[in-house]
Amino acid sequence: MARKVNVGIVGCGNISDAYFLGTKKYDILNLVACADLDPTRAKAKAEKYGIRACPTVDALINDPEIDLVINLTVPKAHAAVNTAALNAGKHAYCEKPFALTSADGAAVLALAKSKNLLVGSAPDTFFGGGIQTARKAIDDGLIGRPVAALAFMMCRGHESWHPSPQFYYEKGGGPMFDMGPYYITALVNLLGPVKRVGGSTSAAFPERLITSQPLNGTRIPVETPTHLTGTLDFVSGATATVVMSFDTWPYPLPCLLVYGTESTLEVPDPNNFSGPVRLRSKDGKTYDEIPPSHPAERSRSAGVADLAYSILRRERPHRASGELAEHVVEIMESFEKSSVSGTHLTLQTTCARPTALPTNLAANVLDA
Ligand SMILES: NC(=O)c1ccc[n+]([C@@H]2O[C@H](COP(=O)([O-])OP(=O)(O)OC[C@H]3O[C@@H](n4cnc5c(N)ncnc54)[C@H](O)[C@@H]3O)[C@@H](O)[C@H]2O)c1
Repeated sequence: MARKVNVGIVGCGNISDAYFLGTKKYDILNLVACADLDPTRAKAKAEKYGIRACPTVDALINDPEIDLVINLTVPKAHAAVNTAALNAGKHAYCEKPFALTSADGAAVLALAKSKNLLVGSAPDTFFGGGIQTARKAIDDGLIGRPVAALAFMMCRGHESWHPSPQFYYEKGGGPMFDMGPYYITALVNLLGPVKRVGGSTSAAFPERLITSQPLNGTRIPVETPTHLTGTLDFVSGATATVVMSFDTWPYPLPCLLVYGTESTLEVPDPNNFSGPVRLRSKDGKTYDEIPPSHPAERSRSAGVADLAYSILRRERPHRASGELAEHVVEIMESFEKSSVSGTHLTLQTTCARPTALPTNLAANVLDA
């Protein structure tokens, strides 16, 4: 590898360890520094992982050594931190959701284009063996022509385990903006872009009680829908039924099913990088696990590494792209807009289906 891409992390909270560890797994990435609004958090992570702590977020974003900023801040800061990074001449990769509104996301994409910089966004779980195996099964025609899909993420919320769960109930939180990116991104990867959304949304509880530490006993107002259900019409002609909820006690349901003209495929949890892919057997009596077609283990930062190759070789499109993430944001926000307006919404955005990963890539590279 002739050149590495130098990376800085902004936001040293709960998910950041996955990136401090994940970036080390890819030969193309060189993690050099981190920063946080709370400098003590940045200092603690820098000491733990043997990198520099920048005294302020501004200092990291303007650091001449850094090529690419990984933005792991809370959702309401995503667009602002991406914008600041781009204005400083850095490429940006953001945790999900890419933005709180498709208007904010579009502004980030326009800025990146004007500065000839690249933008990427989580989730990158679709780089994992689970979703890639399901993608290959569909592309190889094992279910015939895909006609329909189901996506379920139903639970009672995150206030029982996350140390600072407030953002899940602010605008930009809720189950759709929190978990929807995994499910909708997986669906777009499997079935292509969406043209129309219809939705119904509600919130069963006006406030939530935190039972995790250190905020045990604190009540949080709910400012966002916490139960969203609706339909996606894909450009391909397939349709999907989607339910995302923080209002329901879980019941065993598949995460994702794709129905084809010839068979049905169970897709693993799109919040994970791996998991069993099951195909309806020829006699129709069982659902049999397909051997993984992509054995290399992936983890958070795969999308960052893939973006880094595209920074060095501009003609190569990156998979967890800003355009994909922006399309997903418009799909997600359309559930509530459709519910309020009482009509289906035709989408303004679209994106290319990300290229499938080759089956034989080593775990430390994504150069394909
Ligand atoms: N926690 C998880 O399991 C998880 C999993 C996947 C994705 N995510 C996503 O990762 C992001 C971060 O989640 P988290 O759980 O780590 O949250 P967190 O609250 O634990 O950490 C966020 C960190 O960002 C910092 N921050 C906030 N605004 C900032 C700003 N403007 N500039 C610099 N730093 C800022 C905070 O001080 C905090 O340290 C969210 O978008 C979330 O959806 C979280």
